[in-house]
Amino acid sequence: MNLRRFLSEVLGWHRAVSGRQPTAAERSEFARQWREVKRDPRGFRVISKPRFDAGSHPEGFYDFEQEFAATQVARARPRAILDIGSYRGFLTGLAAGYDLTTLDVRERSPRFEREKVLTGDARSLPLPDGSVECLIALCAIEHFGLGRYGDPFDLDGDVRACREMVRVLRPGGLLVASLPFTRGPATLAFNSHRIYDRERIDALFAGLRLRDHAYVSLRTGLCTLDQVEDRPGKWSVFCGAWAKDGPPASQERVEQ
Ligand SMILES: C[S@@+](CC[C@H](N)C(=O)[O-])C[C@H]1O[C@@H](n2cnc3c(N)ncnc32)[C@H](O)[C@@H]1O
Repeated sequence: MNLRRFLSEVLGWHRAVSGRQPTAAERSEFARQWREVKRDPRGFRVISKPRFDAGSHPEGFYDFEQEFAATQVARARPRAILDIGSYRGFLTGLAAGYDLTTLDVRERSPRFEREKVLTGDARSLPLPDGSVECLIALCAIEHFGLGRYGDPFDLDGDVRACREMVRVLRPGGLLVASLPFTRGPATLAFNSHRIYDRERIDALFAGLRLRDHAYVSLRTGLCTLDQVEDRPGKWSVFCGAWAKDGPPASQERVEQ
């Protein structure tokens, strides 16, 4: 094969394939199958749309943080959940089983009967002190105040929102959050997100007790602290479950 033909074939594949590029063996097998498909597409109109997704299932950090959050919620057995910074992607599986309130600066409509949607800014929650049994904020706090999602610019947006979350959490309540995390210097990747160091995370949730936590690498999933990113601009995920001192709401319900 001459160079021009080789480049046109490789670049042609590169443009045509969405997702992983095929190996040479996959390309030639596809070509053979394609001829067969065109001979008899069983009555379908046929177009070429190559994709190669064989191998193990891909896993994203969100798989691990959702698992972390779901485990914490199952342990606490709340009656209701408040999800902050939520387009509800992470909570779809839980939404059917709980009274769910979501709060996000961007508007959307509820989909479940037991779902209430609040549109607003996490820096000022329209809820009384100590009124929330279980609060979740996954991959959300790091964006507050950066304007990326149309909220007002406020460099302390994350700090103010966390203060609000701690205020509305009831004694005995549970707060589950995930944030970009580094062992290097805390970084503001404006206007996408903040990347926190441990000191800042502890300061955000001052007044609560860290009950459980996990680290997630974007490359390998659950990881140890020494595998957490320290390269500039790179991040892993800190998943935390914090409690406000007091008897758990589920225990109070049993005693009533
Ligand atoms: C990366 S998404 C988080 C994913 C989300 N937890 C979910 O349910 O799938 C960040 C969310 O935070 C929201 N957001 C950004 N700034 C906000 C603010 N100041 N107050 C409330 N929500 C905000 C965005 O609209 C967006 O939906």
